Amino acid sequence: MFNLDGKVALITGASQGIGRATALALARAGARVAAAARNTEKLAAVVAEISSGGGEALAVPMDVADAAQVKAGFQQVLNRFGRLDILVNNAGITRDGLAVRMKPEDWETVLRTNLTGALLCIQQALAVMLRQRWGRIINVSSVVAQMGNAGQANYVASKAGLIGLTKAIAVEVASRNITVNAVAPGFIATAMTEPLPEAVKADLLARIPLGRMGDDIEVAAAIVFLASEEAGYITGHVLDVNGGLYMA
Ligand code: NAI
Repeated sequence: MFNLDGKVALITGASQGIGRATALALARAGARVAAAARNTEKLAAVVAEISSGGGEALAVPMDVADAAQVKAGFQQVLNRFGRLDILVNNAGITRDGLAVRMKPEDWETVLRTNLTGALLCIQQALAVMLRQRWGRIINVSSVVAQMGNAGQANYVASKAGLIGLTKAIAVEVASRNITVNAVAPGFIATAMTEPLPEAVKADLLARIPLGRMGDDIEVAAAIVFLASEEAGYITGHVLDVNGGLYMA
């Protein structure tokens, strides 16, 4: 639908779920793709899938919580492709528990990965995009950033932080033709939601006007749109992909 020929995209957390679907969708739209994550075996499978479809992809082993690994990963992308046009900050984790008993390490690990990791990637990406005077940054937040959710104070804070980060960076870099947006997925069928108890799933489904879970491809499609030339007048926006669960 949208043409990303000539663009280079880096997606974090690209080994599975929404990140994998996004890597495949960006490649189908014509982008050369750097797929970043910690699991090198799964990354190799994503790269092979893109290559077998006629696309070009690179596996970038990277823990987004580690500044040195992030820097090395971006350098690897520049060495291979010589440019970077699109960054998708998708890597994310949960360490659920009620706030009153939340361990400091569970708070810090989630904030470090979901929020600080995004900033570390944005800093590396901007060094290139500011020179190129073109860029698209898309941060994967969550509907719980807008609604709140019991048992996820760390995760909700990180995802709400990502929305603030999106808006702040959007203002900083707009003059260089770089847009910064967020997508806020609702209840999407991936490894992250699979372990939820059946009763919790049933309760969530009952509250979703479209009456079903979302598919990772539906989130990927929203990301491809925000990465496109056609979305060039949209910045600082949060695009909901939630089946109507929350209407901003
Ligand atoms: P997932 O658990 O299948 O995928 C998460 C990805 O992030 C994996 O590839 C994992 O390897 C990677 N990752 C985790 N920590 C990392 C680190 N330190 N460095 C590099 N990569 C790391 O989950 P899913 O559902 O595909 O999630 C993708 C994003 O979407 C996450 O940010 C999640 O919070 C968000 N999201 C998911 C929703 C859902 O219902 N599944 C709803 C709203 C947001």
